[in-house]
Amino acid sequence: MSYPILSKETVLDLVPFGNSGQEAEFLALRLSPPAWKEIAPGQFVMLRLSGNHGNHIWGRPFSICRVTPRDLVIFFQARGRVTKEMAKLRPGDVIDVWGPLGNSLRVEKDTPTLLLAGGIGIAPFVEYAHTHPAPWNLSMEFGHRLPLDCYPFDSLNEKIDAAPHRENTVEDRDRFIALMEKRMQEHAKAKGLVLACGPTPFLRTVQTFALKHKVRTQLALETRMGCGVGACLGCVVQVALKASLIPPADSPVCKGEEYHNLQTCTCGPNFWAHQVKL
Ligand SMILES: Cc1cc2nc3c(=O)[nH]c(=O)nc-3n(C[C@H](O)[C@H](O)[C@H](O)COP(=O)(O)OP(=O)(O)OC[C@H]3O[C@@H](n4cnc5c(N)ncnc54)[C@H](O)[C@@H]3O)c2cc1C
Ligand code: FES
Repeated sequence: MSYPILSKETVLDLVPFGNSGQEAEFLALRLSPPAWKEIAPGQFVMLRLSGNHGNHIWGRPFSICRVTPRDLVIFFQARGRVTKEMAKLRPGDVIDVWGPLGNSLRVEKDTPTLLLAGGIGIAPFVEYAHTHPAPWNLSMEFGHRLPLDCYPFDSLNEKIDAAPHRENTVEDRDRFIALMEKRMQEHAKAKGLVLACGPTPFLRTVQTFALKHKVRTQLALETRMGCGVGACLGCVVQVALKASLIPPADSPVCKGEEYHNLQTCTCGPNFWAHQVKL
């Protein structure tokens, strides 16, 4: 993986996705590509707005949704102060991009790999699916509350076997949770790998099943961040360091383990389910 660099990138365009009932809630921001040597799927960037869009001291973290020689794509939800300002960007605007940051989601060419995404957690899996050396070994279960066209689902579905599950009611949600458990059990039997990204309650559910069925599972955390470089300690999570970094498929759950505070920005955002306390 290459060292992160700070660069100024130009907005190429900003495309609203779907109609969530609210004004342009989900958008794909396409930027000129930074001069990165390489990136790994699961890494993220800090974006910082300035000039007409306000002088924000801290950047905000976003998954690298897709990067090509032509562009860097960030898929985001306009939910707060900075992201609502990002929704007003225009082609030609320039913003600060700091990246690529963080560690990689695990890629194992010949291992059946299940991707579990909740809502905006679908973003890092677009790059993952497009760069995986054997996408036929990937499958995805995608839980979402808003209409499917609010999310970049089509660009994933063209690469891998992906199934959407809309959650309008508690019964829908329970069905989705039961399906996730069944799929994780299948992957445990096949000595497969599970990767999950989504809100913390969703990740807790995945973690419970990972420990119950002893399936190797990586969780992509979306902890709130400040500096993005390990200095402010605003993104600390507790991690059991003694547990082996890459657990064997039949790894026992580490009980009575000593936990250490680690920064999500520099040591994550991807952690093994048997190591991290959520
Ligand atoms: C590694 C990583 C990758 C991420 N990738 C994406 C992505 O691809 N697309 C995307 O839309 N968002 C992503 N996020 C979340 C994104 O960083 C936040 O939505 C953003 O920082 C909010 O900034 P704001 O100023 O608009 O919101 P604020 O005004 O700071 O907060 C608005 C609301 O959003 C909530 N919020 C803020 N940050 C988070 C967070 N990290 N998790 C949950 N709730 C939060 C606040 O509690 C508050 O309710 C990622 C976060 C991390 C750590
Ligand atoms: S965001 Fe400052 S230490 Fe991680």
